[in-house]
Amino acid sequence: MNNPKTLCVAGASGLVGSNIVKAALAKGYRVNGTMRDANDEGKRPYLMALPGADERLTLFSADSAESTSFDAALDGADALFIACFPPIYKAKDGTPAKELDRARGYDEIVKPVKEGCLNLLEAASRKGVKTVLLCSSTSSTNPPEPVSIKTEENAISDAEFQMSAGKFTAAEKIVMETAARAFCDAHGMRLSIILPTMMLGPVILPQHLEGDSHSLIVGLNKGKQILHKETPAGSMSLSHIEDVAALFLAAYETPSASGRYFAVYDSWPWQDLYAEFAKHVPSSAMPAPLEGMPEEPTRFDFTRRDSLGVKMRDIPTTIAQMFEWLKTDPFQKRH
Ligand SMILES: NC(=O)c1ccc[n+]([C@@H]2O[C@H](COP(=O)([O-])OP(=O)(O)OC[C@H]3O[C@@H](n4cnc5c(N)ncnc54)[C@H](OP(=O)(O)O)[C@@H]3O)[C@@H](O)[C@H]2O)c1
Repeated sequence: MNNPKTLCVAGASGLVGSNIVKAALAKGYRVNGTMRDANDEGKRPYLMALPGADERLTLFSADSAESTSFDAALDGADALFIACFPPIYKAKDGTPAKELDRARGYDEIVKPVKEGCLNLLEAASRKGVKTVLLCSSTSSTNPPEPVSIKTEENAISDAEFQMSAGKFTAAEKIVMETAARAFCDAHGMRLSIILPTMMLGPVILPQHLEGDSHSLIVGLNKGKQILHKETPAGSMSLSHIEDVAALFLAAYETPSASGRYFAVYDSWPWQDLYAEFAKHVPSSAMPAPLEGMPEEPTRFDFTRRDSLGVKMRDIPTTIAQMFEWLKTDPFQKRH
């Protein structure tokens, strides 16, 4: 790419952010990545080892609590990718989010994410950045009245309804999305919101193997079951992490793209997911079989997702590639 554009990725050391960085470098972009401590030697070397990083990746320290801390990373950037708001599960004193009352749940779980996101958008606006890609989650896609087939337009959570049920960690996402939409509308910025759930695939930092999804897989690979004693009746949505990163870049590169996009390949009953895992791991890792029938999995209309033109891997391929990669012992026994 001659004279490549610069993309700012907030949350470059995260599971999602690091994959966006990798995909952007692979496409020839310059990347300004942010994390709270750009000199963290437990993280920085893995990012700087990505192909193209030496020439085109610069890491900056920035904290979402301080808008101006993003100014340097946004200087000259063509777009801002926001992947620095992992779910908050506990209040400052360690109380689980679901045990908080409305006032504390809002102040300590929901508000910091909303205000943090607005801090980033204000920085982008100050620096003349007109394109924003925001990572949210399917936890913002649960309306009070369930819909039979979810679309990005009909599956919108109600923040007050979620907060009244103590679901502050889920409410945080729809509140963030709503605030981001209002800000971007008011400031003439194009906003795409990407909605993933469980993501599997190669990770860039070994710490990411400790996240909920990957620790399940690492355990299974060692013949250990760490999530379920019995196969749950419910379902789980899944996608390959590299396909999620490809959706972010496709939304950036498609000038007409805006609004919400599912970043899910499909949702399968756990029973079917475990049948697929069983092809790759020792039988000791399998939970007890489900007694009775599985529940109907979540159903999606993927018209908008597919309009971005990304060919996503199916679930058996994602799972097979995950285990193939893990068997290469990518971090030499660190996990
Ligand atoms: N992982 C999943 O399974 C999953 C599923 C669905 C949706 N998502 C969504 O994907 C997004 C990213 O999640 P993730 O799993 O990639 O998270 P992650 O791996 O925990 O990474 C979070 C990133 O944000 C940075 N960060 C954390 N606190 C920050 C702060 N106060 N200011 C600035 N940067 C901060 C972290 O950097 P440092 O810690 O190095 O500072 C890191 O780069 C979130 O919106 C999440 O809800 C994730």
